[in-house]
Amino acid sequence: MTTTIERLLSEMTLDEKIGQLNLVTAGQAVTGPIGNGDISENIRAGFVGGVLNIWGRDEIRAAQRLATEETRLGIPLFFGLDVLHGYKTIFPIPLAEAGLFDPLAWERSARVAAAEAAADGLDLTFAPMLDVARDPRWGRIAEGPGEDPLVASVFAKAKVRGFQGARLSGRSAVAATAKHFCAGGAALGGREYAPVDISERTLEEVYLPPFLAAVEAGCAAIMPAFNSLNGVPMSMHRDLLTGRLREEHGFSGLFISDYTAIAELVEHGVAASLVEAAALALRAGVDVDMVSGVYVGGLKQALERGLVDLGDIDGAVRRVLKLKNDLGLFDDPYRRLGATEIAQHETNALALDIARRAVTLLTNKGVLPLSPKLRRLAVIGPLADARGEMLGPWSAAGAPENCVTILEGLRNALPDAEISFHPGCGINDDDRSGFEQAKAICAASEAVVLCLGEAAGMSGEAASRARLTLPGVQRQLAEEALSTGVPTVAVLCSGRPLIIGELAEKAGATLAAWFLGSQAGAAVAQVLTGRFNPTGRLALAWPRETGQIPVFHAQRSSGRPFNATNPFTSKYIDLSPEPLFAFGHGLSYSQARLGNLRVSPSAFSFAEAGEIMVEAEAVNEAGALVEETVFLFIHDIAASVAQPQMALKAWAKVSLAPGETKTVKFNLARESFTLLDRDLKPRFEAGEFEILVGLSADRSALLSIRTRAFE
Ligand code: IFM
Repeated sequence: MTTTIERLLSEMTLDEKIGQLNLVTAGQAVTGPIGNGDISENIRAGFVGGVLNIWGRDEIRAAQRLATEETRLGIPLFFGLDVLHGYKTIFPIPLAEAGLFDPLAWERSARVAAAEAAADGLDLTFAPMLDVARDPRWGRIAEGPGEDPLVASVFAKAKVRGFQGARLSGRSAVAATAKHFCAGGAALGGREYAPVDISERTLEEVYLPPFLAAVEAGCAAIMPAFNSLNGVPMSMHRDLLTGRLREEHGFSGLFISDYTAIAELVEHGVAASLVEAAALALRAGVDVDMVSGVYVGGLKQALERGLVDLGDIDGAVRRVLKLKNDLGLFDDPYRRLGATEIAQHETNALALDIARRAVTLLTNKGVLPLSPKLRRLAVIGPLADARGEMLGPWSAAGAPENCVTILEGLRNALPDAEISFHPGCGINDDDRSGFEQAKAICAASEAVVLCLGEAAGMSGEAASRARLTLPGVQRQLAEEALSTGVPTVAVLCSGRPLIIGELAEKAGATLAAWFLGSQAGAAVAQVLTGRFNPTGRLALAWPRETGQIPVFHAQRSSGRPFNATNPFTSKYIDLSPEPLFAFGHGLSYSQARLGNLRVSPSAFSFAEAGEIMVEAEAVNEAGALVEETVFLFIHDIAASVAQPQMALKAWAKVSLAPGETKTVKFNLARESFTLLDRDLKPRFEAGEFEILVGLSADRSALLSIRTRAFE
């Protein structure tokens, strides 16, 4: 095929070459500030390499026909869309799905999404989103795997495998685009598109690893982030794009810019003109320009002015053609259209299973599960019957009409109960006129399910929030419901942790139901009624107050670590420094107990033993099946560079039948004990390590053991 690509290259005019680098929007969805209008003429002229935001088999077939039959060289287009957490069948938002801590599930949902998207003719998804994020003000936290780089790295590999399948040319495979490279999650103040200023160390330790994992897994494309990183916008970050990923880590895929991001180099203040912007991006290694049109409009001039050379353009075109070839588009440009989808009942079953496993039970004072004898239930709140909201941001071709609301889920699950519903108020308005009726319904019921939270559009792109409280008058609605004294369960639908004030204390139970997708209501109902014992665990810490942000488990110690009895320690004078719920937190109706933590050998030399084994006993004393996620953290006690007080190194899932005891085993290689030294080079330093094992990052509940490790 190299010969075909080279032959094509030799036949292409400069305009046609640049056209291959031009990704335009069909405008069926708006995911940026401008559109490209009618794209047919530009396709015909050979000025378009790919199309985004297009769906529908007829639309895709028509555009592909223009490219293959009405252009001089007949080079097929590729078609891309943001298929983040499902295409038609919508799965939980990634932040919620991360809480399964189950790579196989992560892969399977991506496989289904790819199969459905491919069958509609899509070749590429702008996913997975791999931004480690520790600031829930940032709306895009919903799209990623949470606060931890190890989780994000495992997630990256699973998603790339799921989207791309065994080979890219597979009819149900779509090319994955790891995004947003890099450190978008560290946007200043959690503000979308804001600059990022972080240390080299934080970049290396936290934000780069998931992208390196995606490269290792063979992801076909990477999207440079909108943000600048320490002053250099990512769309022109040659050191990281070409230097780090391509040259050092062998990334051979495409760098596809974000929406108009190349043109935005002018606004960033690093390019004096669009021509310069185009040149900076291309020179940095960005192959494809999404929507801004500056490659088509500016590269020729940039070439004339000597800002780029033909080799830069040819290199990018080669990579575009290679991806098209890898996708099998030269063999059959319509190969994906109509590819076999997985049967709907199977995708629904998977979506339901993943959704119920993503539900995180935050608190429970014994109110849950709801009694099967329940006769009168009040379902209150603006999220109870909000069909479209359940899908969450970036819901691709997910149809709200195929989505189960919480109200419907409960009605199906409790056919004999009398269920009265009132929204009480809107999601984000100040209309309290429904309070009275909602309260009356609560007062006349045996239990209340209060469905509160955000609208889907309040997270995702361009949806940063400075206040993370319940929007509108929902808090007041909750107070009305709680004032009746009827046992109340708060179900929170959101794309991020919300600041819930006293709700968690006052409600009989609190549940994070995120945006769970097509089967949201059925999943929530299964958990509420005890048909499913909740297993979701938080992939990020849940703050008490916005002022605590960032609050995450892998913080370094200070010279004066927090001590409640000593005022001169690191803390707030008006709030605990601990999150409301730690990373990994999540309750079940019955929980296992961990004990007998041991390490063998107890002092070890990696020269003698390749790995060390850490074991703990998990005991299920309850009368029901229990599934636990057991986390293992390491604290390097004295190192050349201060290390996190706990760094996640592994986790294990364990299922225990009633009364069963199992040994949970972790094999840790040298790598788990390696740090980045002062030169940011990986290094093992012999010494003492604390190994912490538990059901969350709540330090007070972790088992701990010390061990010595030598070369
Ligand atoms: O893929 C997205 C990206 O994550 C944010 N800006 C728009 C792109 C295309 O929709």
